[in-house]
Amino acid sequence: MKALVLCGGTGTRLRPITHTMAKQLVPIANKPVLFYGLEAIKEAGIDDVGIVVGETRKEIMEAVGDGSRWGLKVTYIHQEEPLGLAHAVLVSEDYLQDESFVMYLGDNLIKDGIKSLVDEFKKNKPNSEILLARVSDPRLFGVAQLENGRVVRLVEKPKEPPSDLALVGVYMFDCNVLKAVKAIKPSWRGELEITDAIQWLIDNGYKVDPHIIEGWWKDTGRLEDMLEANRIMLETIETSLKGRIDEKSKVLGKVVIEDGAEILDSTIRGPAIIGERTRVVNSFVGPFTSIYFDVEILNSEIEHSIVLERSVIKDIPGRIEDSLIGQNVVVERSHEKPAVYRFMLGDNSRVGIL
Ligand code: DAU
Repeated sequence: MKALVLCGGTGTRLRPITHTMAKQLVPIANKPVLFYGLEAIKEAGIDDVGIVVGETRKEIMEAVGDGSRWGLKVTYIHQEEPLGLAHAVLVSEDYLQDESFVMYLGDNLIKDGIKSLVDEFKKNKPNSEILLARVSDPRLFGVAQLENGRVVRLVEKPKEPPSDLALVGVYMFDCNVLKAVKAIKPSWRGELEITDAIQWLIDNGYKVDPHIIEGWWKDTGRLEDMLEANRIMLETIETSLKGRIDEKSKVLGKVVIEDGAEILDSTIRGPAIIGERTRVVNSFVGPFTSIYFDVEILNSEIEHSIVLERSVIKDIPGRIEDSLIGQNVVVERSHEKPAVYRFMLGDNSRVGIL
C-alpha cells in the first residue's frame, strides 16, 4: 500500500500567513502540520509516499527532503494547478500504478493517527473507505448521508447539509478510484472533487465503507482551528528543558525549552514550547503557547498563541492572547513622537486594540 499526501493548493483561509509559506508547513506545537501526517503514515506501516506539490513545492521539498528522516521513500508529483483533490489523484496515476493507497490531505491532523484505519481497510478490502467526523458546521466540509450504515450520498460544502458528518481529509482507495477521477466533471467551483469521485464509485456499484471517527481531528486551514490544534497537541508534550533557564526564572507544568533557547527573569507556564535559539526575557509565556525558533519575547506577556520564526515581541503593556503571529513580525511599543499606532499589516490581517 502507498500513501498520497496532498500539499498543492493555496492557503487562502490562512492569509496573510500563507502568502509566504505553505499551509502544510505551519507549525503546530513547533512541528509542521505535515510532519504529523508523515509520522502517522509511517506508523501505519506505509513506507512509499507520493507528495503532490504545487506552487509551494520548493518549501515542501526542502522541509521533507527524501523522507529518510521518517524512514520513508518520498516521490514528488507535480500538479501544475490546484484543480481539485480528484485532479491530484489523476496526476498521480503513474506513481500509484495499480496499488491501493491512503490519500492524506497535508493540512489535516488526526490525533490518534491512522494505523487502525489502514488495518481495517486492508482486512475488509472495500474499494474505498472514508472517514467521517461529527462537526458543528458541516457547510465547511464534504458531507456524507448514511442509510443503514451505508453511504448513499456525498456533497461538497453544501448550503443545506444532509447530516453533520464531515469527510475527514484521509481516504483509502483501491485502483478503481482512477476510473472515477477520469469519469467525473469539474464542480461549480471548477474543481475535480474527490467527493464526486467517491459518489461515482457508489453509483457504479463499488463498495465504499464509512468509518465514523470519535477521536480528535482538525483541518488546520483557519486561525481558530490552528489554535485549537496547537492546544490539543501541546497537551501531549513531555517536559524537556534543553535551553538555558536562569535562576530568576520559573518553569511550571509541561514545558519544552528547545536547544539554544534562553529564559531569563521570566515565567513559562505550560503546556508551552519555546523553540531553538528563542529568547524570553523579563516576560510571561502562558499556557497553550508555541513560540517557534529565533524569536525574541522581551518585557511582554503572551498566552494561548502561536508565534512563528524570527519575530520580536517587545515592551507590550497588555497580555497578548489568542493570536497567530507570522514570520519576521515585530510587535513593539513605540517611544517615538507622536504617540500613535503604527502598523504594517498584510492583507486580511486582524488586530484587536485595547
Ligand atoms: O479537510 C477536510 C475537507 O478537505 C473535506 O471535508 C472536503 O470534502 C475536501 O474537499 C477538502 O476540503 P478543503 O476545502 O479543506 O480542501 P483544500 O482546498 O483545503 O485542500 C486540501 C489539501 O489538499 C490541502 O493540503 C491542499 C491540497 N490540494 C488541494 C487542491 C484543491 C492539492 O494538493 N491540490 C489541489 O488541487
